[in-house]
Amino acid sequence: MNIKDIIKKKRDQKELTDDEIKYFVSEYSNGNIPDYQISSLLMAIYLNGMSEDEIFTLTMEMANSGEILDLSSIEGPIVDKHSTGGIGDKVTLVVLPLVASCGVNIAKMSGRGLGYTQGTIDKLESINGFRTNLFFQDFISNIKDIGIAIMSQSEDIAVADKKLYALRDVTSTVESIPLIASSIMSKKIAAGADKFLLEVTCGSGAFMASEERAKLLGEIMVNIGEKLGKETVAIITNMDQPLGRYCGNALEVKEAIEILKGKGEDDVVSVCTWIGAYMLKLAGKGENIANNIKMIQNQIKNGEGLKKFKQLIALQGGDVNVIDYPELLDTAPVRLEVPATHSGFVSAINAKVIGEAVVRLGGGRLKKDDEIDNSVGIEVCKKIGDEVKSGDTILIIHSSDEQKARLVIESLQEAYNYSDEQVDKYREIIDII
Ligand code: URA
Repeated sequence: MNIKDIIKKKRDQKELTDDEIKYFVSEYSNGNIPDYQISSLLMAIYLNGMSEDEIFTLTMEMANSGEILDLSSIEGPIVDKHSTGGIGDKVTLVVLPLVASCGVNIAKMSGRGLGYTQGTIDKLESINGFRTNLFFQDFISNIKDIGIAIMSQSEDIAVADKKLYALRDVTSTVESIPLIASSIMSKKIAAGADKFLLEVTCGSGAFMASEERAKLLGEIMVNIGEKLGKETVAIITNMDQPLGRYCGNALEVKEAIEILKGKGEDDVVSVCTWIGAYMLKLAGKGENIANNIKMIQNQIKNGEGLKKFKQLIALQGGDVNVIDYPELLDTAPVRLEVPATHSGFVSAINAKVIGEAVVRLGGGRLKKDDEIDNSVGIEVCKKIGDEVKSGDTILIIHSSDEQKARLVIESLQEAYNYSDEQVDKYREIIDII
């Protein structure tokens, strides 16, 4: 068996055998196949897809390419949550402390920014001192202590995904159903939880642009979970505009704290409460979603979610003062307002352009080992349905210097469409699988 033949087979739209998938995953993980050949295979998979059987095998091989965490010493069900990525998607930061504050064990392994989306690990690392590279023993003991731990993918967990994820990011092979499904599910399996909640984003700022593709991705991941006897729910959420008000690492942490203090914008609060409600259901805390939503809302009102977030920051070495003084987070020195080019109702926003602007400002990676600037980002002042007059501020760019901000202003203006007619209400939750 050799990698050249495997690339050729996938290029020619043929189905790979279990042995071929096993071969390329293990040889790549062990450093025996170079990035340029795997890049070519990734592009062939991106273009020609994979069958559900191939995706399942790929997922299992990726999960088994490293350690599988054993969380059996923790009492009660353990729930994990993962998003397929979006713009301004700080749901994980908000919802995990809220659900943990209801007495549910949360074991979360997260990733860094991918493509034009920001990642939970980069966001958390914008809190001074916050450690995301936990030892496995600490991961477990933190969950036992406070019911929640969030760690980055260590070198020895889902090794193949760690390498493939970084390579996909720089080879334009991210938006692929087999590659996303196997990446997410291999990490979830390796991290050892019993139940999974998947937030599958859909729209202009998501890797899945259409509802149809988002639902297919959700179904494939749910099928993988069910096949392994792990109860899995996928919630398809709308990412046709950035979620909430801010996009950018430190800005999103600041916003997450605001949401936990009860001051969040409606769209992001709604997504968090729905996802939280389904996580409670998965954990056996209540079958009735309307009641579970109330429970989550209550944990915002009574401050228990915020308290849990503070405990999480403290236990992972972060500066808890950011809760009371969010201005301690990195702040960009320049703010540049972006004026609307038309009058009317905002009818569409190309959220991907906003994500790309954050990357160009330095808030994401263009190359695998780029350093990122956590302080930069975009503040979204006008959303779909809002009425604006030409010249009104639609966005505010937070940048390290004015020149960088000026370079993205035109594309940001072009990301907005306007209509003379009033625009229909925006649906945050599209489907539940
Ligand atoms: N999140 C992941 O972990 N992997 C992907 O491929 C996309 C989003």
